[in-house]
This record gives sequence, C-alpha cells and structure tokens, in this order.
Amino acid sequence: MTIITNKTVLLTGASRGLGVHIAHALAKEQATIIGISRSKPGLNKTRDEVKALGGQFIGFTFDITNVEHLSGLVQHINNTVSPVDILINNTGVEIYQSFANYSLKDLQSVLTTNLLAAMELTRLLLPSMLERGSGHIVNISSLAGKKGVPYNSIYSASKAGLIMWTDSLRQELVRTGINFSAICPGYISETGMTVDSGLPAPTLAGISTPQDVANSVIRAIKKNKAEVIINESAIAEFLTKVMFAIGQITPQFVDAVYRWIAVAKLNQMRAENFANNQYKRA
Ligand SMILES: NC(=O)c1ccc[n+]([C@@H]2O[C@H](COP(=O)([O-])OP(=O)(O)OC[C@H]3O[C@@H](n4cnc5c(N)ncnc54)[C@H](OP(=O)(O)O)[C@@H]3O)[C@@H](O)[C@H]2O)c1
Repeated sequence: MTIITNKTVLLTGASRGLGVHIAHALAKEQATIIGISRSKPGLNKTRDEVKALGGQFIGFTFDITNVEHLSGLVQHINNTVSPVDILINNTGVEIYQSFANYSLKDLQSVLTTNLLAAMELTRLLLPSMLERGSGHIVNISSLAGKKGVPYNSIYSASKAGLIMWTDSLRQELVRTGINFSAICPGYISETGMTVDSGLPAPTLAGISTPQDVANSVIRAIKKNKAEVIINESAIAEFLTKVMFAIGQITPQFVDAVYRWIAVAKLNQMRAENFANNQYKRA
C-alpha cells in the first residue's frame, strides 16, 4: 500500500472543479500539493481551503498548452519545492460540436490540454522517479474514453488516448516502482464540466459526486489500481463495466444503449448551446 502522507503531489487543473476536491482529499492525507492552472485567484482559493484543512499548497499559474515550456516549470518546481512523487494529470477541456464544424485550433486545444501536456509532464518527471525507484502517475480520463460520445469526439479521443497510454506505460515500466492509474468518471454533480454544460445529465446514466472522484484517486494511489470506473453506485459501476465488455464484441449494442438513455440527444443539445454561446466555456 502506498502512503501519501508527506509526498509531493503535482496536481494539474487545481483552480476549480474536480481538482479542488482532489486537493482537499490530498490535504487530508497530509501531502504537499503543487497546483497548476491558469487562474491565480482560483489557485489562491484552493490554497486557502487546503490550508484550512491543515495541508500545504503551492500554486503555479501556467497554461499547460505551452508544452515546450513545461520543462522550465518542472525545473523550477525541483529547485524551489522538491522532486515530485505523484503526478495527477487532471486538466481537461471539452468542446461540444459536430466534428465537421471543428476548427484545427479546436483539435489542437483539446488534444494538447487533455493528452499531449499530460504526456510531456510525465516524460519530464519520469527520470527522477526512475532514479528514486518510486512514483505514481494518475491520469483523469472519463467514461467518454471507454465509449465514444457524439458531438464531443475530440474529447473522447483524448480520453481514450489517456487510457491506452496509461495501459502501455504500466506494462512498459512494470517492476520499476512507478505505478499508473487511469480514472474514468461519468457524469458529476455539484461542480465541473457536467454542471457547467447547464443541462442535466440523463437520469438513467447515473451521476456521481466530486467527492467520489477524489476518494477514487486516493484509493487508486494507495492500492495501485490500474483503472477505476466511477458511476453512481457499486451496481451502476458493475453494469457500466459489463456494458463496455459487451461493447468490445458489439459496439453498436452500446450505441443503442446510449441512444436509449439519451446521451446522444444531450450532447446534440450541448453542441447547440455551445454554438449559441450558452455553454459556460473555460
Ligand atoms: N466534471 C465531470 O463531469 C467530468 C467527468 C468525467 C471526466 N472529467 C475529467 O475530470 C477532469 C477535471 O474536470 P472538471 O470537471 O473539474 O473541469 P473544469 O471544472 O472545467 O476544470 C478544469 C481545470 O483545468 C484547468 N485548465 C484548463 N485548461 C488549462 C490550461 N490550458 N492550462 C492549465 N490549466 C488548465 C482549469 O483551470 P484554469 O481555467 O484556471 O486554467 C481548471 O482548474 C478533466 O480531465 C475532465 O475531463 C470530468
């Protein structure tokens, strides 16, 4: 079992949404948290909340799409804080749109934020972890990475990429002391992307809380879980896994389930809202 207490954790996307809840959970474990995002006020708010919980939080404002400058950031963290023990790649963006209407900028923005930046940060942190023979990389993916969703196809591709890349690295670096986890939340209440879309999640799809996600991240690190599916209840999680297993044999069966529970319809409405600027865009 991995102990998180006194470990240095680099958490991206720490200024709002699920990242804040993950920071709270890490603070309760007495980790030192290094938070990254573009918003200084957001990071300061998380820092104050973490401090109130008795934890330590150092915020760095940084736009993670500047991938070529991530090496400078990592060097700065090494020099001013300490080498990173645990990396949580949590930053994510989504753009609801029919695929033909995406711009090249949209493709680059989603793929760089969600996938390339996570890869580059990991690439930069791995040598030090390998030298020390310990470390954990947690990639926050999504159920949208297990089954493609219409009108959010780049996001789905980026999240599927995170899952397969995590799967590859776990095998490549087996017995090095470095562990890898992919976390796959479904719809989430209270804060974050589901809420920001302004449209309720389909009733039959199941909805979890941000605390469920934060607890799953802590459990994944402590128990070295390869992949975690998060849905409303243990039964919903089991049924979701069975559905994805069936989808490996007949993908169209899950297409029909998604149409039936209205995932496709919801995303079409989100795309319309996005086009009309009603979607709270990051
Ligand atoms: N909430 C859900 O329903 C849900 C479900 C499944 C998976 N997820 C995944 O969970 C993760 C967190 O989602 P969330 O709902 O918390 O999203 P969110 O509320 O939109 O927060 C996203 C975080 O990422 C940061 N960020 C975005 N672009 C950035 C950039 N270029 N550079 C640095 N930081 C950037 C944001 O901070 P700044 O804007 O201050 O930079 C913010 O802290 C994402 O990977 C998402 O895909 C969420």
